[in-house]
Amino acid sequence: MTTLAVFGAGRIGTIHAGNLAANPDADVRYVVDVDEPSASRLAASCGAGVASKDDALNDKDVTAVVIATSTDTHTDLIKSAAAAGKAIFCEKPIDLNIGTAREGVNTAEQHGVQLTIGFNRRHDPSFQKIKDEIDAGTVGSVEHVSITSRDPSPPPAEYVARSGGIFRDMMIHDFDMARWLLGEEPVVVFASGSVLVDESIGEAGDIDSAVALLKTASGSLCTISNSRRCSYGYDQRIEVFGSSGMVSAGNKTATEVGTADSSGFHSEVALPFFVERYADAYRIQLDKFLRAVNGEQVDLPGAADGLRALMLADCAQESLDTGAPVAVRE
Ligand SMILES: NC(=O)c1ccc[n+]([C@@H]2O[C@H](COP(=O)([O-])OP(=O)(O)OC[C@H]3O[C@@H](n4cnc5c(N)ncnc54)[C@H](O)[C@@H]3O)[C@@H](O)[C@H]2O)c1
Repeated sequence: MTTLAVFGAGRIGTIHAGNLAANPDADVRYVVDVDEPSASRLAASCGAGVASKDDALNDKDVTAVVIATSTDTHTDLIKSAAAAGKAIFCEKPIDLNIGTAREGVNTAEQHGVQLTIGFNRRHDPSFQKIKDEIDAGTVGSVEHVSITSRDPSPPPAEYVARSGGIFRDMMIHDFDMARWLLGEEPVVVFASGSVLVDESIGEAGDIDSAVALLKTASGSLCTISNSRRCSYGYDQRIEVFGSSGMVSAGNKTATEVGTADSSGFHSEVALPFFVERYADAYRIQLDKFLRAVNGEQVDLPGAADGLRALMLADCAQESLDTGAPVAVRE
């Protein structure tokens, strides 16, 4: 049994605390949030107590923490949790700033604690199957990965203001998937984008529609398409094309039932958002994290993956700003 503290009682902290509360190998002892009503509500729902950051970290029974707070607080919490010797699961991205993110990663390394990053899509059963098919040689050598990732509607303005922009906040998931599925590091990033959906996102200095093209040293390509609005649900599709085949995963729907009549073939809209679409992935990733905390060798995205994806996001932002392709820095 692993005793944990969950930091952050917002959208994703609620999912993680719920999954941990339902896991017989986990005991959520504390919920920590600067917003007391949020902390109390979530703590009550999962049989935990509310604590301050220091009280939660000073409890010797707590051996692991889940960091699900706003991105600009992650590094501070990573450093504090590492100094207290706790295993850490931290939501993506590690930080808004790669230099600061490296400081957090270094602190975790100095204290020898595990640092897992919440790239949940690697744990989605459909995308895991795509990876398995690639590894089994089904598509031959990977030539082109296409990732479509569109949110149903824009996040609240206050979230956007603290998010670090679409590349660090949203496309970072796709940068991680690109690295994972290409099996090779991208060396060039070319990105562009516009405000097509929500003027308030533009006023906050961000864009709401973005594309990126990644290229590896061997010439493999990845294209990514993001939008903060999608009329038919949460659009999450991946296709991997290779020298001897193709493997793809489409959207999930509520019942997977399709109909056909004289006007054509009809299917349901995609599941509404990440809460529903990645419900399995969120559960599986924390399951794996707990197993890793208990000493099992488990394949989990770690600090190096978090830093690499953040570097790709920084390069994409630079490409958007300059209008030119950007060579990925080491
Ligand atoms: N992996 C995913 O699919 C996924 C989905 C959504 C969000 N996220 C990530 O999770 C993080 C949180 O996102 P969210 O959508 O849940 O945001 P949110 O705004 O809904 O929740 C964040 C919570 O953190 C609390 N908080 C802020 N600073 C704090 C601090 N210093 N100490 C304790 N609590 C603090 C806020 O009061 C709030 O309750 C972000 O880093 C985001 O990128 C990941």
